[in-house]
Amino acid sequence: MKPWRGTAIAGLAGAAALGLAACDNMANQPKLNPYELPYGAQTNWPVTPPPHVVARDEPLHPPPAPPVTMALLQRGRQRFDIYCSPCHGRFGDGNGMIVQRGFPRPPSYYSDALRNAPSQHFYDVITHGYGVMYSYAGRVEPADRWAIVAYIRALQASADATVADVPPNQRSALQ
Ligand code: HEC
Repeated sequence: MKPWRGTAIAGLAGAAALGLAACDNMANQPKLNPYELPYGAQTNWPVTPPPHVVARDEPLHPPPAPPVTMALLQRGRQRFDIYCSPCHGRFGDGNGMIVQRGFPRPPSYYSDALRNAPSQHFYDVITHGYGVMYSYAGRVEPADRWAIVAYIRALQASADATVADVPPNQRSALQ
């Protein structure tokens, strides 16, 4: 092999390595960091994902609504009190403590619109958020979302309930 050939090959290899190094530095290129918004979009916070967008860890086929049991309602009540009542209030009237401190007031669950809304709508609101309400997908597991929905349905039903709806052997507990 002629000496200049060796030099040329070494030079080419060096250039290739430099080129690879440059490509490798993907952290250093124009991009948006998590939670960073394009300039001018700051007023659109929190970002509502475009329709049909699912989080990476979100199951593609969400679980169907489970049968309503006492255990499900109790779980739903507990999760609701933790995650939803700070804004929606313990009874879902929309007057939670955060609202009393100035956060926008959510609609009451007793509005005609929400009483007539399908249960899936409540599940979807928990999953994706709604307007200024952010998503609870990261905090409330899919099974617990249905538990919360069942409890909200029970709250709504309780608005029209009378003493006659209470089993006779439990009416004394109301006094
Ligand atoms: C930080 C306050 C806050 C928390 C916590 C919160 N929400 Fe909301 N929610 C709101 C506000 C405000 C709205 C109204 C949003 C709007 O119209 O822009 C709303 C709206 C809704 C709606 C009505 C959507 C419609 O069709 O009008 C439902 C249903 C709902 N929330 C369910 C829940 C559930 C279930 C939880 C608990 C997992 C929860 N929210 C937690 C603030 C909150």
